[in-house]
Amino acid sequence: MQPADIAPKDRLIVALDLSSIAAAEAMIDKLGDSVNFYKIGYQLAYAGGLPLARALATAGKKVFIDLKLHDIGNTVARGVESIATLGATFLTVHAYPQTMKAAVEARAGSNLRILAVTVLTSYDDNDLHAAGYRFNVADLVEARAQQAQVLGVDGLVSSPEEAASLRKIVGHQMKLVTPGIRPAGSASGDQKRIMTPSRAIAAGADYLVVGRPILEASDPKAAADIIQAEIAQVLG
Ligand code: C5P
Repeated sequence: MQPADIAPKDRLIVALDLSSIAAAEAMIDKLGDSVNFYKIGYQLAYAGGLPLARALATAGKKVFIDLKLHDIGNTVARGVESIATLGATFLTVHAYPQTMKAAVEARAGSNLRILAVTVLTSYDDNDLHAAGYRFNVADLVEARAQQAQVLGVDGLVSSPEEAASLRKIVGHQMKLVTPGIRPAGSASGDQKRIMTPSRAIAAGADYLVVGRPILEASDPKAAADIIQAEIAQVLG
């Protein structure tokens, strides 16, 4: 059972993976009331996306800033304080203890919530070994999820396949946000570990991040409406 504190319609987060503000604004206009929550990542943030984040928040939308911060604690803290002034709801950081601790402390007093990325989903055991880690992916994900919880991090980003096992580790105190969502019949693109919206929610995800299945649809609003209906149906 999912926590009831999230409105069903807020569970769909559309990734604005677009190259310009004009393209993002056109997409937001098209999606209208069908979407309440937007994610701004590297591509758009470095092309003027932060003022757009502020404008979206001012207009009553929720915003997820996906910049995956990681630096010395003081620098992370000052960055988080600046991002908190935008009115965003979520910000990602890498799940290193110093980084998580600094981010959680710096978001105090704001509405910003911190999501930790445990291990990037493009990493496998060999990649971790090459980077100098003695953990395999599953063990590092588990260790970092536990550290995130102890440090008061608000949620985790994970593949939908990890959602059920993470839920067992962190309980319902933390939000689970999952990309890699593909409605039945849509192209997987470069995503390898995918789930349909209803299966991801059933696996324990609180929020679903969806990019290309909506952005590249011939009718993005209709594509978003279908996903919203699927989410609402699972939550009954
Ligand atoms: O287009 P698609 O639905 O695959 O977009 C998924 C979004 O989630 C992208 O913005 C991508 O960067 C992000 N993401 C991901 N896998 C992760 C973390 C973030 O696909 N592990």
